[in-house]
Amino acid sequence: MPDLYPLARKILFSLDAEAAHHATLAMMKTADAFGVLGQITGLDAGSDPVESREIEVMGLTFPNRVGLAAGMDKKGEAISAFGHLGFGHVEVGTVTPLWQAGNEKPRLFRLKEHEAIINRMGFNNPGVPAMMQNIAQSKKGFSGVLGINIGKNKDTPNEDFIDDYLKCLEGVYEAADYVTANLSSPNTKGLRDLQSESTCRELILRLQEKREELKSALDGKHVPLVIKIAPDLADDAVKSLAAVFSETGIDGVITTNTTIERGAVQGHEHAEEAGGLSGAPLTEKATGILALLRSEMDDTIAIIGSGGVMTAADARAKFDAGASLVQVYTGLVYHGAALVREIAAMK
Ligand SMILES: Cc1cc2nc3c(=O)[nH]c(=O)nc-3n(C[C@H](O)[C@H](O)[C@H](O)COP(=O)(O)O)c2cc1C
Repeated sequence: MPDLYPLARKILFSLDAEAAHHATLAMMKTADAFGVLGQITGLDAGSDPVESREIEVMGLTFPNRVGLAAGMDKKGEAISAFGHLGFGHVEVGTVTPLWQAGNEKPRLFRLKEHEAIINRMGFNNPGVPAMMQNIAQSKKGFSGVLGINIGKNKDTPNEDFIDDYLKCLEGVYEAADYVTANLSSPNTKGLRDLQSESTCRELILRLQEKREELKSALDGKHVPLVIKIAPDLADDAVKSLAAVFSETGIDGVITTNTTIERGAVQGHEHAEEAGGLSGAPLTEKATGILALLRSEMDDTIAIIGSGGVMTAADARAKFDAGASLVQVYTGLVYHGAALVREIAAMK
């Protein structure tokens, strides 16, 4: 099957970035609904080109080591479609307790020369109840692992933020295979402050307490908890967080979200746009944080590598640095599903 993505990319890149995103999701959902997406990508039963790459992480069986990073399927509307692109896990969200519009447009920028994106979406999402309805539909036909990424509403004062995370955990628990608490979006004021040692400890302990309640109410269903951190943390802050992760026994950590640094893209027309930078300029920085965190924690805590996975070699570097799984966002925009399949085939 020829890779049609370079052609599709030409068309998509001629559109405004957010319009292209919606067009892609709509096309994928339609192709999936007609049952042809798996055929196009060659991943349907009987034609699976990838021999089993199952891996056990956080007590869950992942079909392969590559997942979709949060923020691409914010509404949880295209889970099975992303599964048919080859992703072994799909992380939907970030979802907040209540619907919110997110920031004003434009809020998404391509930096093509750098294979990068700057976004300041600001958690535009349908809220937990609507997201749960979407998931019930779009999960049909998906055989991978579903992660649900949770956050706080913009208008919730920081002193009440834990309530938002607890409400989200309660609302998504039944549908999720794992839940990620996002403490690292640069686009919600004050969110990254939640990465301070004491605040993060309190959040994890309260989430774990809530999980025990939900577990008893739901026939013992155990949902691993994951924390997603920023790449803009000083080494000492990463070490303090590693101590909190070890002490609380969190199940996993995603390193990393987008960066607020702009050094690598200086001079680009969009370089000074506010928001988080993702893609190639983030690769090394994110892998560096991953390696540092890995050296500070024992192997019982899983690390999921996110940030600038643009090639299979980037994924390999994250596995070598101690990641059990990797996630892709910007790499999918620039290289299409061929990248996903290449990583899915990796041991
Ligand atoms: C447009 C866009 C929206 C994003 N939205 C979210 C989000 O809602 N929650 C989250 O945890 N991460 C979000 N991210 C961060 C990605 O999940 C990922 O961690 C980051 O982009 C680094 O990976 P990449 O270089 O492969 O893109 C978003 C990224 C982009 C580009």
